Amino acid sequence: ATERIPVICIDGPTASGKGTVAAAVAQRLGYRFLDSGAMYRITALAALRAGLAIDATHESRIADMAKTLPVHFEGGRVLLGQDDVTEAIRTEEAGMNASRVSALPAVREALVDLQHSFRRLPGLVADGRDMGTVIFPGAPLKVYLTASAACRAERRYKQLISKGFSANIADLRADLEARDARDSSRSVAPLKPAQDALVLDNSDLTIDEAVEKVLAWWQERQPFA
Ligand code: DC
Repeated sequence: ATERIPVICIDGPTASGKGTVAAAVAQRLGYRFLDSGAMYRITALAALRAGLAIDATHESRIADMAKTLPVHFEGGRVLLGQDDVTEAIRTEEAGMNASRVSALPAVREALVDLQHSFRRLPGLVADGRDMGTVIFPGAPLKVYLTASAACRAERRYKQLISKGFSANIADLRADLEARDARDSSRSVAPLKPAQDALVLDNSDLTIDEAVEKVLAWWQERQPFA
């Protein structure tokens, strides 16, 4: 049964480095990788393109769309139907829209099966907000990866600048704090560490150090070793 397939959950706030760390851990172990935030980002984009406002009035229509999203992950690219939306879903605005759509309970419910479908051999590393609390509650390793707001804003700033975008640290920090506040206060599947999560604050760690820490924890609790 799929419950036997190992899953490492990496949850945490916006720009904590989860995505980078989770992808690197997956690569090192040869596991699959689930970027659950991308699903909310794609759903929000699809809703807006269909002319729907992202709010409770359109909740059931957006949830219906989410159930049948024509989404494909191909060699690092994200396709929505024929459209390559890889860059479009990565903007700050797309992140904020994803946060808004993710607060709608019917939309969260609609994306559960798609997320579970990523649990395949030899194993999965799942990145999100509720991987350990809701989607894979029985996972043998749950990491809550966090960093100070100042540090996350600075990393996001450098990332944007390196891609040639202009950015302002104070605005970025205000945006990510607003997003965290929404993600943490929603009624369904709020952002919080699972009871059995190991908390890793990577404010003063390099990516490699964070990856090594997660791999070391995984070694310790290898269920099949
Ligand atoms: O990780 P990210 O920045 O790509 O996520 C975008 C938004 O999607 C985030 O602000 C909240 C929502 N999200 C969620 O509610 N549950 C998840 N498992 C992943 C993301």
